[in-house]
Amino acid sequence: MALLELTGVEKTYRAAGRIVPAVRGVDLAIEAGRTLGLVGESGCGKSTLGRIIAGLHPQSHGTVTFDGLALPTAYGDRAVRRRVQMVFQHPYQSLNPRLRVEATVAEPLRLLAGVTGRDADRRVDEVLHLVGLDASYRRRLPRELSGGQQQRVAIARALVSRPDLVVLDEPTSGLDQSVRGRIVALLRRIQAEEGVAYLFISHDLDTVRRLADEVAVMYLGRIVERAATPDLFAAPRHPYTRALLAAVPSMDPRRRGNRAPLAGETPSPSELPDGCAFAGRCANILDRCRAEQPILAPDPDAPGRLVECFNPVPLP
Ligand SMILES: Nc1ncnc2c1ncn2[C@@H]1O[C@H](COP(=O)(O)OP(=O)(O)OP(=O)(O)O)[C@@H](O)[C@H]1O
Ligand SMILES: [Mg+2]
Repeated sequence: MALLELTGVEKTYRAAGRIVPAVRGVDLAIEAGRTLGLVGESGCGKSTLGRIIAGLHPQSHGTVTFDGLALPTAYGDRAVRRRVQMVFQHPYQSLNPRLRVEATVAEPLRLLAGVTGRDADRRVDEVLHLVGLDASYRRRLPRELSGGQQQRVAIARALVSRPDLVVLDEPTSGLDQSVRGRIVALLRRIQAEEGVAYLFISHDLDTVRRLADEVAVMYLGRIVERAATPDLFAAPRHPYTRALLAAVPSMDPRRRGNRAPLAGETPSPSELPDGCAFAGRCANILDRCRAEQPILAPDPDAPGRLVECFNPVPLP
C-alpha cells in the first residue's frame, strides 16, 4: 500500500455562476520517503490537488487515503493531521507577521503533537539547524528575514511535527537561482535524514528534474502521464508532455531543432470539449481523440509508465 492513494478524485468549484471542474478524475499514489513531482500549465489543478491532500479543502468525489485512512475524515484526528504538512508558494503570506520564528515553528508541535516546553525547544532548534538557520534567528519576525530565509522557516514549520508527507506548492518560485539550488539541496538532505515523502508542485522543470523520483504531468484537471523522472525527460510519451518539455530551452544543441511548442489556447475548464481535452492543440490527433476520453493506463511500450493517449509520441 502506498502512503497516499487517490482514486477517481474530482474537485468542482462554483465561481461566478459557472461550474469549474478543477480536478477531473485523478488516480495517483505517493510512496513513503519518495518525491513525486507534479507539473503542468497554470490553472491545470495542481494546487487544488495539493490542497485536497493537505486537508485544506475536501474533494467533491473520489477517495483519498493516507496510510489507509480515508481523508478528509481522518484529519479530524490531530495525530493524523500532524503527518501531512504543506509549504506554500509565498512564504511571507503563509507566516504570521506577528509571530517570531521560534513561535512560528513551535506552533504545529504544540497544536498537533501536544509537545511544549523544553522538548518543543529542542525540536525547534533541531529543525532550524536542519534548514540551515542558526539559533540567532529564533527571535526574528518574518519581515526581518530574506525571502529564502522565510521559505526556510516555512519548511522548518512544516517539518517540525515529523510529518510523513509534505506538499510543497511552488516552494522556490519567488527565489533566485542560487537560493533555489540551496533549497533543493536542503529538501534532499532532509528527506535522507527524516524519511519524509514530498509532493513537489512546480513550473520549474529543471528543479523537478533534480528533485523528483517520478513526475506526474497534469492537463486540465487530469494526470496525462506519469513516469520515472529520467524516463520522462528522455522520452515524453504524451504529446502534451513533449510540448511542455520543449517549451524549456534545451541544453543539448542536437535537440534544439526538435521542438513542438504549445500551440493554441487551453480550453476553459467550464467549457470542455468531448474527448481528450488536449485534442485541439495536439500534433498527434486522431479522429477518435475528439469523441472519446482516453484513460490513464500502463504504456505497453514503456514499462513502468502510465500515459493517457490514443496516439503517443513514438519512443526514440
Ligand atoms: N477557490 C476557487 N474558486 C473557483 N475556482 C477556482 C478556485 N481555485 C481554483 N480555481 C480554478 O480551478 C482551476 C485550477 O486551479 P489551481 O489553482 O488548482 O491551478 P494550478 O495548477 O495550481 O495553477 P498555477 O500553476 O497558476 O498555480 C483553475 O481553473 C482555477 O481558476
Ligand atoms: Mg497553483
